[in-house]
Amino acid sequence: MKTRVLTGITTSGTPHLGNYAGAIRPSIQASLRPDTESYYFLADYHALVKCDDPRRVARSRLEIAATWLAAGLDPEHVVFYRQSDIPEIPELCWMLTCVTGKGLMNRAHAYKASVDANEEKQLDPDDGITMGLFSYPILMTADILMFNAHQVPVGRDQIQHLEMARDIAQRFNNLYGDGDELFVMPDVFIDENVATLPGLDGRKMSKSYDNTIPLFEGGEQALKNAINRIVTDSSLPGEPKDPDASHLYSLYQAFASSEQTQTFRQELLAGLAWGDAKEQLFELIAAELAPMRERYHALMAAPEQVEEILQEGARKARAYAVPFIEKLRHAVGLRQASAVRLATDAEADEAPKPKPTHRFVSFRDEDGTFRFRLYDADEEELFLSEPFSDPKRAGYVMRSLQQGLLDEWIVEDNDTATIVFEEIVVCRLPRERIAAVQQCLQVVEE
Ligand code: TRP
Repeated sequence: MKTRVLTGITTSGTPHLGNYAGAIRPSIQASLRPDTESYYFLADYHALVKCDDPRRVARSRLEIAATWLAAGLDPEHVVFYRQSDIPEIPELCWMLTCVTGKGLMNRAHAYKASVDANEEKQLDPDDGITMGLFSYPILMTADILMFNAHQVPVGRDQIQHLEMARDIAQRFNNLYGDGDELFVMPDVFIDENVATLPGLDGRKMSKSYDNTIPLFEGGEQALKNAINRIVTDSSLPGEPKDPDASHLYSLYQAFASSEQTQTFRQELLAGLAWGDAKEQLFELIAAELAPMRERYHALMAAPEQVEEILQEGARKARAYAVPFIEKLRHAVGLRQASAVRLATDAEADEAPKPKPTHRFVSFRDEDGTFRFRLYDADEEELFLSEPFSDPKRAGYVMRSLQQGLLDEWIVEDNDTATIVFEEIVVCRLPRERIAAVQQCLQVVEE
């Protein structure tokens, strides 16, 4: 069986070079492996948690789809879709919400960070926190479980979400699995070899640090301008540069072959000017991006083409999701009315008839009194009751015993046991036989 790999990309911004090297490029490479089946999707419902600007959300969905396609994602081989085109995902999200402990969500790092930030500012701890942010990990769990992903490649910040996904999956399996596992346990996958690009200032490249290098936005000129703003030390042309202390060198390495890296290293050590080093870095990155840039602009100019590709992706994804959600609906009890009647009949037909464990027989004695006997499954008599003058009273005592013989009704002495019910002596029997009576007359759990 192929390994099903699934990952989501939140559509709340414009991809930068760090996204390309850290996620897009390695994911596309991974999707080419013959032993994997890749599900990559635009997490646009997740974008709504972070962004309430509709135009930005709409634009980001298109830009990110175009970026992945331009970078070489092959929609024939990868199931590439938008989360919001799969209505089964929010449906599953609700089923999962109903089995997820609130306490589990209270522990989510992202939510806790927002609470901490509020407390630091002496605001109400819930200030600005939506239910979307609070239950974000459940939606992510639905994304993963909807397709029974085996492996989920993500960044380190998402490890806790994967643990929560496993926790929720297990809970659901236990509750509704009925012996068979409804959900596969997803594994987190952290690729240690993937470059985390430094930004202009040397910290991790991130929009929140405002130190990014644009990918396609602004054309080659914007790429060049950004590279010229990379912070370097003040050593002059001709002075040797320490490659290992330079994030410009790290950036170069992320796009170069090992031979190119070696040459660049030697040149820096030999005193290459920073201006020339930046020019080399620009040439290197621009060359890798050039053919993609062209495809990117072509796709951005033909959004209906992107739409068609995503619709086709949604169709493929739903070929899995629709029958699976049907199974899940059934598992939780959301069944068609006719299925309820049929199932009841079928169960009644199939259920093995309970083997009788005992039998009461009541009769009218010769002296006109009423008595009953208890027989075990082998028709052995276990006891004969005392006589009752009132047949209704005899019937009442007999039915009461039938519902279960309670320990407190049994009075034992040396050789005999006496069953006393509502202060009436029901019967006396040899003490060693009482265990057999108790076995027959166990309390029936409703
Ligand atoms: N939360 C992820 C992120 O911010 C995006 C995401 C949403 C995701 N659903 C997912 C990743 C499912 C992997 C699997 O990076």
